Formats: sequence, C-alpha cells, structure tokens
Amino acid sequence: MMSDVLNPPQDNGATISVPLKPLGKVLAVTSGKGGVGKTFVSANLAAALAKRGHRVLVLDADLGLANLDVVLNLYPKVTLHDVFTGKAKLEDAIVRAPGGFSVLLAGSGMVEYSRLTPEVRDDFLRIMNGLVPHYDIVLLDTGAGISDVVLFAVSLASEVLVVATPEPTSLTDAYATIKVLVGQQKRQNIRMVINQTARLGDGRAITTQLQQVLDRFVKTEPGRPLRLIHMGDIPSDPAVRQAVMRRQLLMQSIPGCPAALAISQLAVKLEDTVIAQIK
Ligand SMILES: Nc1ncnc2c1ncn2[C@@H]1O[C@H](COP(=O)(O)OP(=O)(O)OP(=O)(O)O)[C@@H](O)[C@H]1O
Ligand SMILES: [Mg+2]
Repeated sequence: MMSDVLNPPQDNGATISVPLKPLGKVLAVTSGKGGVGKTFVSANLAAALAKRGHRVLVLDADLGLANLDVVLNLYPKVTLHDVFTGKAKLEDAIVRAPGGFSVLLAGSGMVEYSRLTPEVRDDFLRIMNGLVPHYDIVLLDTGAGISDVVLFAVSLASEVLVVATPEPTSLTDAYATIKVLVGQQKRQNIRMVINQTARLGDGRAITTQLQQVLDRFVKTEPGRPLRLIHMGDIPSDPAVRQAVMRRQLLMQSIPGCPAALAISQLAVKLEDTVIAQIK
C-alpha cells in the first residue's frame, strides 16, 4: 500500500488517485457542491461523538480553503502546514476544540498543498498513519468536488459520508462525486446525510431517488452493487447560522435546537455502525 502511494502510476496530471487501501477508523465527510455543510457537520458531529465518550479527531483536510479554525474560533500557533514543512512535530499541531475533541487545523499556508504532488501524498499519509491509532474515529473535513486532493483525502478513509442538500445542483454534484468514488475507489457503501431539509422524511426520499439514478447509470463490478446508506436528515435551522456567526459549536450553544438534535441522532447511528464495526 505504501509503495502505491509513494510511487503512484504516472498520469498526465489531469486524472488522479489510485484506489488505496483505506486506513481504519477514518470517516471522510465530503460533498459534490461546496457550502452544503461539511464543516458544520464535521465539527458538531465530533462534539456529539466526544460527548458520548469517544476519542475524536477532526482533520481539516480542505487544504486549500481551510476554515474549521474560523468555525471553532481557534487560532493555533502550529498547523498542519508546519508539520508538512518539518517545522513542528505532529503532536504539537493537535489542539483541543471547545467540544471536547481534538483538531488538526490546516492553516492558511496550505495553498501550495491544494495540488496533489507526490510530496503531499507522502506527508498526508505519514500524518494519517501517525494519528489514527490514537483515536476512536478520525473525521476528515474535506473540500468539495472531485479534485485530486479531495479524492486522495477520501481514499484514506474507510468510510465516506456524503453531505448533500435537497437543491438540484447539490444532488447532481453529489451524483457526480459518488460516480467517481465508485469508479476510482471501488466504493461499495456510501453513507449519506441530507442537510438543510425542509420536511421530515425528505432526506430518505432523496437518497432513494439518488440510488435509483446511480443504479441506472453507474456501472459497478458484477456482484458488487453500490449501496447508499441513509444516515439521517438535518433540518434547515436558523440556529445553525446563529452559532456560526457567534463562532460557537451548535451542540454547545444551542443544543436543543432541531439541527443539534439531528446531529446527536447521526452520532448514535455512526456509533452503532462505523465505530462499533472497527473498534
Ligand atoms: N442545517 C442547516 N440549517 C441552516 N443553515 C445551515 C445548515 N447547514 C449549514 N448551514 C449554513 O451553511 C453554511 C455553510 O456551511 P459549511 O461551511 O459547513 O459548508 P461546507 O460544505 O463546509 O462549505 P465548503 O465547501 O466551503 O467547505 C453555514 O455557515 C451555515 O450558515
Ligand atoms: Mg468546509
């Protein structure tokens, strides 16, 4: 596996990631379209899981446009960037977030890492290998879309959670992302959370619809059908924006609101499935 990563097959730079053997206990939170709530879900889900007694780390894997620090109101002295450049040790870059979980923030110097070079792959993999044994679960808050760096980050995860909203643009982008994850990474199970739903049950209907479209148009290997696993809906809730404006976690500042309750349910579901499986 290591050699696959360090010596990826040559390509012309336009296409990317070889399918890698994913590490255990890593959940990539990703999406097709940007701005659908990945960072919000990652941070608050981490808080909900931490509250349930799990050791959780969130890694800001959105290397080019990291903003987990803004959401959590943290100003780390040491970032992933310093670890990548050898200026700091990995353990010094891990900070405690208000929600009782750990975070590894990318920092603003990461722009040069928004392109996937062999060095970035190497650094990223080394860091992940060092981190994973210390936590019950590592959440990767990735960027949106199907850039090579996003796909590489996702390839390091044993589980993928795709965040989508009911908007048609978000759904077509989610479809495109899932198609690539199936084709390139041979993913069989993809977990879905539908964020910003208007009515109860909307999310499940959307996941079912998306599954039908994928079944029709996305070729999978014989005997390895793709399965979307609906993990839950998070309602559209004005409290989310309020918490972001205050730069606080929703789970801490407005824990009883509908979106926070939905995140708690999502945490229980993840605990019963992903964490239970790999612990
Ligand atoms: N359930 C919700 N109800 C209301 N507003 C929401 C909800 N989820 C997210 N939002 C709004 O959407 C904004 C964007 O969310 P977030 O930054 O988590 O998206 P993202 O997918 O991480 O974006 P990017 O692709 O840029 O990383 C939030 O700041 C918040 O205002
Ligand atoms: Mg984000």
